[in-house]
Amino acid sequence: MRAGRQTRQRPRSRRALALVAPLLLLLGACASDAPQDTLEPAGPIARKIDNLVNPVFIVAAVVFVLVEFGVLYLVLKFRQRKDDDPDELPGQTHGNTKLEIGWTVLPALLLGFVSFATLATLFDINDTQDDGLTVQVTGQQWWWEYTYDTDGDGEFTDEDVLTANDLVVPAGQNVDLEVTSRDVIHSFWIPRLNGKKDAVPGRRHSLMINADEPGTYVGQCTEFCGLSHAYMRQRVVALPPDEFESWLEDQQAEADEPTDEAAAAGAELFAGQCSVCHLARGINDEQFEDGGDGMAQLVSENAPDLTHFATRGAFAGATFDLWEDLDGDGIVEADEIGTANGGVLDRAALEAWLRDPPAAKPMAPVTPEEVEAGEQGRGMPNLNLSEEQIDQLVAFLETLE
Ligand code: CUA
Repeated sequence: MRAGRQTRQRPRSRRALALVAPLLLLLGACASDAPQDTLEPAGPIARKIDNLVNPVFIVAAVVFVLVEFGVLYLVLKFRQRKDDDPDELPGQTHGNTKLEIGWTVLPALLLGFVSFATLATLFDINDTQDDGLTVQVTGQQWWWEYTYDTDGDGEFTDEDVLTANDLVVPAGQNVDLEVTSRDVIHSFWIPRLNGKKDAVPGRRHSLMINADEPGTYVGQCTEFCGLSHAYMRQRVVALPPDEFESWLEDQQAEADEPTDEAAAAGAELFAGQCSVCHLARGINDEQFEDGGDGMAQLVSENAPDLTHFATRGAFAGATFDLWEDLDGDGIVEADEIGTANGGVLDRAALEAWLRDPPAAKPMAPVTPEEVEAGEQGRGMPNLNLSEEQIDQLVAFLETLE
């Protein structure tokens, strides 16, 4: 029996690893430069949450330490000693009115404080204003679309600015988001700006964000939404208000007809190959209309508007950087985007994507029956482009500033 138990025992090194691994994991979560750190609020709304989390954490920590030490103390003090009579019980506290009132009232007070603080914060951060900028945030498999209500009529139509991946906002201002979904449930979360909000088809959930300083704040979809859930990321790019205004104006313009030879060939290729899903206003409007009402489709055939593709820091659901991270801080910032800013296009990443998109970002598989029925997989299919075509498309896409 005893020998059998010994052979089942794990070697000491593996036991040590089993102990250390979770600790290392925990420590890994403490990285000081993690970009998705809810404990480093970057705006007034996120700070309200932080101001709730900290005192509640302190209360919980104090209770935890007191209870654990209390348990240890009692276990040690009242353990059965060698010459104790095993039938004799230690003194019982059952029926001690003072103690029972104490341990009923104290937790009730603590929980009362916690719930009051929580409710107050909840009401506070859900208090949207409706007087500033409103952006509709639409989750879909697997990227985020942003529609700016530029004319302020409360509707989100094709006349408004439509973009993807980068949610550009003015710094220091409240921005109302209306979060929804076109297919399944997603969840929008920029940890440094506010809590998370589910994106549910057929519903609109309000969420307000506000970033103190210009900068780029990242997040990712936090509701499992299918194969490429982990490739569904968000970037909020906060600009100084005057730069935001000129950004908004630029976004309303159509794309310029490319003059460069390779880019012009790319534009032609784009109109021929990409119009079923993608629109670049001023380039392929006609072909896009003919390509089917892409905008109204569910799931597949709904693809980002690419009119100002090159003004975004990332592509493919913000999974890949479109511009090089020149200062190496891990995030492509506004001043690294665009050749006019001295930015450098991450050509290799874009080429790899065009060469074989499903290899870079897994897509929902389609059965032969679904193909028969005219359905495409979600996400971008492999178009089997030649290297020359890829070069031309990249040259064209770079002009979409
Ligand atoms: Cu969208 Cu997970």
